[in-house]
Amino acid sequence: MPAEVKIAPSLLAADFSRLGDQIRALEGSADWLHLDVMDGHFVPNISFGIPVIESLRPLTGLFFDCHVMTTNPGDYLAELAKAGVNLVSVHIEAVPDPTALEERVREQGLGFGLVLNPRTPFDAVAPFTERCDLLVVMSVEPGFGGQTLIPEVLPKVRQAREWVEVRGLPTDIQVDGGVTPANARHVVEAGATVLVAGSAVFGADDPPQAIEELRRAVRS
Ligand code: DX5
Ligand code: ZN
Repeated sequence: MPAEVKIAPSLLAADFSRLGDQIRALEGSADWLHLDVMDGHFVPNISFGIPVIESLRPLTGLFFDCHVMTTNPGDYLAELAKAGVNLVSVHIEAVPDPTALEERVREQGLGFGLVLNPRTPFDAVAPFTERCDLLVVMSVEPGFGGQTLIPEVLPKVRQAREWVEVRGLPTDIQVDGGVTPANARHVVEAGATVLVAGSAVFGADDPPQAIEELRRAVRS
């Protein structure tokens, strides 16, 4: 089990009428903030966009992990960088050969991640893993928070972990969707180093305490 697991609350589950307070409350307990950007085309939902991210940036020093669920993820890289994101993850289903896109992301000074939908095999990202800081295994169909983790994706998490270990890659492995204190340990045992948690954190009465609960579950 990796020594250090990062917790990345997903803003999608926050109360949008008081985003500032909700984010400030995570300072000191969350590791990353996961920002789900959607276009209503690649996924059947629209969340929030660049002006929102930009307005949140001065409020926190948290690492901004931007999960881009759009058909053309290359279209807004400069704007995302300017808004203050630290890493951009794009779906391999949207960009089957992400080589050129990765170079453009690096030109913006950002980290780069590749995301796999639940039904996409690991082979789709295998040729590009050395270019990635992060591999994201979706454990729900992308587009909506509050869904239940699909356990059938865990072997893919294991496959990703073995792949990076055999090659000595420093790549983080993130699991996104339906992570709770009840399943976090299984997810980490499979090889995840970053847990995204939307509802489990922002749906709780006390989000920092919910983060601690996730950490305890992983350690137990
Ligand atoms: C789904 C998003 C997830 C989602 C996770 O498209 O990518 O990041 O917000 O939320 P929960 O933890 O509620 O499943
Ligand atoms: Zn996400």
